Amino acid sequence: MSKINVAMTVNGKAVSAEVEPRLLLIHFLRENLSLTGPHIGCDTTQCGACTVDVDGKSVKSCTMFAVQAQGAEVLTIEGMAGADGKLHPLQEGFREMHGLQCGYCTPGMIMRAHRLLKENPNPTEAEIRLGISGNLCRCTGYQNIVKAIQYAAAKLAGLEIKEAAE
Ligand code: FES
Ligand code: FES
Repeated sequence: MSKINVAMTVNGKAVSAEVEPRLLLIHFLRENLSLTGPHIGCDTTQCGACTVDVDGKSVKSCTMFAVQAQGAEVLTIEGMAGADGKLHPLQEGFREMHGLQCGYCTPGMIMRAHRLLKENPNPTEAEIRLGISGNLCRCTGYQNIVKAIQYAAAKLAGLEIKEAAE
């Protein structure tokens, strides 16, 4: 199959490659760029493990061709921590509130939560649960994921965090 050039910005860095038009964005990220934070759980748009941010929207990257991201700004879990390695409040929240067990869903959960908090910085518990309803977790029962997102929302708002993990 003939290849075409695709160029985009990923985690603030300009990248480009010759790819087959059928290459999915998740494979471009993982195989061409060695960004293995976005996971493949189902490959059928069910689980959300592959969620990344594309031009300010949460995207299941197993559902988008790399060429469809031509010129886009893409953010993956690898781009969330500061340049100095300081964890993003969401990463810190997942650690502090025990929002993960095996961790397979976690990069997708964090990227989805990132967009959720951009759109709604002070979500209710119900809004968080609805907001992450496209992301499946088989381990945690979600309770501490919700607490992790609440932790990040509070921290981003400069509020004191009192809630403990369950
Ligand atoms: S791998 Fe993309 S939604 Fe499951
Ligand atoms: S922590 Fe294991 S799938 Fe969510």
